[in-house]
Amino acid sequence: PFELRLQRSGRSVRVGEGQSALEALHGAGVPLSASCEQGVCGTCLTPILEGEPEHRDTCLTVAERARNDCFTPCVSRARSPYLLLDL
Ligand code: FES
Repeated sequence: PFELRLQRSGRSVRVGEGQSALEALHGAGVPLSASCEQGVCGTCLTPILEGEPEHRDTCLTVAERARNDCFTPCVSRARSPYLLLDL
């Protein structure tokens, strides 16, 4: 489990083992566009302000992954206890 902290709204959303970060955000009523939900299209790409994502997508390049400044919440998770998102 890890936590998503939302910079703009000041909210935090817990992501459990059995759900994606996107599901957790949608479950909390946070509107976020998504399409493939398989880490392919990049529609859900979300900026990260703090924290280290665990990239599980297939749409970012190696260089984009290394920057750790965005992630795809439909499939990707966190290595750090929380991610601060620009949401
Ligand atoms: Fe397609 Fe997340 S919805 S990459």
